[in-house]
Amino acid sequence: MQQLHVSEHPLVKHKLTALRATSTDHRTFRELVRELSMLLCYEATLDMETKPKQVVTPMGETTGAEVKETIGLVPIMRAGIGMTDGIMELLPSVQVWHIGLYRDEETLRPVSYYNKLPQAPTVQVCLVLDPMLATGGSAIATVNILKEWGVARIKYVGLLAAPEGVEAFSSAHPDVPIHVAALDERLNDIGFIVPGLGDAGDRMFGT
Ligand code: PRP
Repeated sequence: MQQLHVSEHPLVKHKLTALRATSTDHRTFRELVRELSMLLCYEATLDMETKPKQVVTPMGETTGAEVKETIGLVPIMRAGIGMTDGIMELLPSVQVWHIGLYRDEETLRPVSYYNKLPQAPTVQVCLVLDPMLATGGSAIATVNILKEWGVARIKYVGLLAAPEGVEAFSSAHPDVPIHVAALDERLNDIGFIVPGLGDAGDRMFGT
């Protein structure tokens, strides 16, 4: 589990607590997901590569920095979509490649329904976005797709993880770091994270 990064940021803890509350309405839920995603993206991109860049200021000239890599955001639909907008605003050079997967309610296995990746990779780094790492099936399948696409550097950014999901994901993809706001207790018998926050997609979109 050495690739697991659980945020210790006080703002993350504060906002996640509000997100969990049953009393939080859909609109506030979406705002909190957006804000949490930006905070987690900050932590997940601390090792991003930069190159020197000259800049002229009103008082002279200095050498600054420019982000070197093109990042691909890969939201897993539906719930990953809510994590995308805020992060897009933070990153200077970004592409968004949606992956459509849903979890079969009986088998809990991911079923693919959308993938429009072009043949050759167009980004150097991918951030897989999905609020919930439950059994880990959806995240594992998405990283399989990205590795087949040819992307070498991949990170997972989510809000909540269950130990079962972290275990499965880490064995399938030990090279892919996991960044989350919290590691919860367990999965219940219908595959929901406990104590969790319910169904992220439903709460986000009011369904
Ligand atoms: C939820 C969640 C993840 C997945 C996690 O999506 O948003 O994508 O389940 O579960 P796993 O780790 O066991 O694969 P869901 O299938 O409910 O689809 P939705 O986002 O369209 O609501």
